[in-house]
Amino acid sequence: MNERPYVTLSCAMSIDGYLDGSAPRRLAMSNAADFDRVDEVRSRSDAIMVGASTVRRDNPRLLVRDAVRRARRLSYGRPESPTKVTVTASGDLSPDAAFFTAGDSPRLVYCPSEGVRGLRARLGERATVVGLGEHVTMAALLQDLGERRGVRRLMVEGGGRVLTQFLEADLVDELQLVIAPFFVGEPRAPRAVGAGRFPWTASRRARLAGTQQIGDVVLLRYALSDRCDSPADHCDVLDSGAAAVTADRS
Ligand SMILES: NC(=O)c1ccc[n+]([C@@H]2O[C@H](COP(=O)([O-])OP(=O)(O)OC[C@H]3O[C@@H](n4cnc5c(N)ncnc54)[C@H](OP(=O)(O)O)[C@@H]3O)[C@@H](O)[C@H]2O)c1
Repeated sequence: MNERPYVTLSCAMSIDGYLDGSAPRRLAMSNAADFDRVDEVRSRSDAIMVGASTVRRDNPRLLVRDAVRRARRLSYGRPESPTKVTVTASGDLSPDAAFFTAGDSPRLVYCPSEGVRGLRARLGERATVVGLGEHVTMAALLQDLGERRGVRRLMVEGGGRVLTQFLEADLVDELQLVIAPFFVGEPRAPRAVGAGRFPWTASRRARLAGTQQIGDVVLLRYALSDRCDSPADHCDVLDSGAAAVTADRS
């Protein structure tokens, strides 16, 4: 059996813990230099995952932006951008979303088995739809990614409901948390993490593996498994510099 993929959670939140505002227009949490850092992490991943709500609301492309990074991937015989992954129970995903139309990397959609037929009819050739039983768990999803899709490194970019499930299930190796220098303060805005029972408590504290100021935001890096202690393999993504680029989360 393959080793479980190395999982990095990556998100940017306001000082008061929100991933976004509640207005229709998405709130940019981070800055150009940090988006470039995220691009580097993406470029070193085999797959990038977001929840279906993020696909609907943000319409992200989830591609590697930087041409040098894309070329580096190609030189290693990999696609220019990682495999895109999402999960849905409702099946409410448009085949015209940028998730399905931008770039040519593989796209995987996980859903309960009863939704497979409808989603395949809706998405056609634009994605591989995978049913995972009555209820999709992040453990089953990771197992499929590792054993059947050849994914060794998964980057999970949100939103909050997906992040919460990975954290609750203790499936995260590394958390890269960026704090934006403002408050949101809207009760209906999405939280970075919802209520739950988490493995790290006041009596079992997570290990802070690093901090880095990036312009007006700060990156906190938490090691949530022993695998994050192996710098050569895993925690090597912060040395990439942070060249400013014009970027948003797409
Ligand atoms: N600041 C950041 O770094 C960042 C990053 C990403 C996203 N965001 C923001 O986060 C917000 C969205 O976050 P969110 O928490 O509302 O949603 P989300 O985590 O992006 O997606 C939740 C949806 O994913 C599907 N899903 C999740 N777990 C599932 C499971 N076990 N089985 C089946 N389907 C499952 C469901 O889709 P269905 O409803 O289709 O069933 C669920 O409604 C957006 O406002 C976005 O802008 C911010």
